[in-house]
Amino acid sequence: MNIKDLDLQFLKSKTILVTGASRGIGKALAEKLLDLGNIVIGTSRNLNSLENLAEKFTRNFYPMELDLESTEAIANLSDELIKKFEKIDVLVCNAGVLGEIKKIEDCDYETWCHTININLNNQFLLVKSLLPSLKKSKKGSIVIISSSVGQNPREKWGAYSISKLGMEGLSKILAQELESDKIIVNTVNPGGTATRMRKQAIPDEDQSKIPQPEDILPIVLYLCSNEAHVSSQSFNARDFIGHLKF
Ligand SMILES: NC(=O)c1ccc[n+]([C@@H]2O[C@H](COP(=O)([O-])OP(=O)(O)OC[C@H]3O[C@@H](n4cnc5c(N)ncnc54)[C@H](OP(=O)(O)O)[C@@H]3O)[C@@H](O)[C@H]2O)c1
Repeated sequence: MNIKDLDLQFLKSKTILVTGASRGIGKALAEKLLDLGNIVIGTSRNLNSLENLAEKFTRNFYPMELDLESTEAIANLSDELIKKFEKIDVLVCNAGVLGEIKKIEDCDYETWCHTININLNNQFLLVKSLLPSLKKSKKGSIVIISSSVGQNPREKWGAYSISKLGMEGLSKILAQELESDKIIVNTVNPGGTATRMRKQAIPDEDQSKIPQPEDILPIVLYLCSNEAHVSSQSFNARDFIGHLKF
């Protein structure tokens, strides 16, 4: 696998769903995929925060509402997608919340459940409801945006860490179950990236000194492309910074 060989001009005309496209990593990814000429469905809880992309990409951007707290919202989104699009080629499970950074003994049960529901339980529902559309693609790919604490659980990162560990596991199980459907499933740990979530986690950090959302995109773009045949892998985006020229 050599990402440097990927010619980005061939990553076009795919139908790609990016959850959490209103800011941060999801927005940078959606924008790049749109620039390349893909059809992108981008979600947010608030359609207004997708206006910016909608105004810039009037032909190929489809803003849609999704609140991952709501199982009904997931059902509505998947119904709409099935009506509007013949197939989905790539699903990028990017949206997520941080929850509380506290020791387990100080964690509040409701906040715990809220974080696990958004970052894990309802991601399961979203993936499950979109599988029929992904199976219609000739080259399906599911990319799960994970975290370093989903590889190595860390003190005080309780529910968030557990939710990402769960997603790492879900990814491995799906990769096996979908092999015969030619759908690859992988996770990407972005590493510390300058976004609102990172600011919430580490408020005193100088975000100009860490990678920006665009910097960590190469491995994600590769996994969206026809070149990617790997499955069941966990990638660290930092290993691929600078591997593609945008
Ligand atoms: N930044 C980092 O350093 C870092 C490190 C490791 C992993 N990650 C992972 O990277 C992914 C993107 O994070 P980010 O740093 O780009 O964060 P971010 O800037 O806070 O963006 C989070 C995105 O998730 C959406 N979202 C939040 N709550 C939601 C809900 N209940 N339902 C649906 N969508 C919701 C937000 O959309 P709306 O608010 O518009 O609905 C927003 O688009 C996350 O999975 C995060 O765990 C980030």
